[in-house]
Amino acid sequence: MTADSLKALVRTIPDFPKPGIQFRDITSLLADADGFAALIALMADAARTLDVDYVAGIEARGFILGAAIATALGAGFVPVRKAGKLPGAVVGIDYALEYGTDRLEVHRGQFPGGARILLVDDLIATGGTALAAARLLRGEGAQLAMALFAIDLPDLGGMAALVAEGLPSRAVMT
Ligand code: PRP
Ligand code: HPA
Repeated sequence: MTADSLKALVRTIPDFPKPGIQFRDITSLLADADGFAALIALMADAARTLDVDYVAGIEARGFILGAAIATALGAGFVPVRKAGKLPGAVVGIDYALEYGTDRLEVHRGQFPGGARILLVDDLIATGGTALAAARLLRGEGAQLAMALFAIDLPDLGGMAALVAEGLPSRAVMT
């Protein structure tokens, strides 16, 4: 399945979560067995030569894609969670949203000898979320091999911001 036929499986919901936002909804793609499998295969293939130790998925939709990509690559999975959800000792980072701030956390001390990580999320818009996750994981000693997304919204500049921070980045759909 091509990236264009995958794109046809993404729904656009107008005015969610706020008036004026065209929300790109991947639940319709995930519900399509062939589409979901093709998306995971394309994303895993984009990362196969990187030989990563872990896939880090960003809550919530990055968990769905990241976990499947991890098994396809034979890598472990590390959840990057919203604040207050992980049970062990955590390290966190605050990041700016359009209005206010949010916080991402990971379990502390998971990469004592360093690790190669593929960062995964469903979509990159401004890049604020992915940049915060990358800084958090790098602060824990991880080496980020690439950031990988199902969808890039290029007008919002997120992928360019990641590349400017020295993080190679790719997306299957634009
Ligand atoms: C969405 C999306 C990314 C982020 C992209 O998640 O899944 O994680 O926003 O936006 P950015 O590039 O401007 O940071 P959301 O914050 O809606 O969280 P959710 O997956 O828990 O609903
Ligand atoms: N879809 C999903 N998540 C998002 C979007 C979108 O269009 N914009 C910002 N985060």
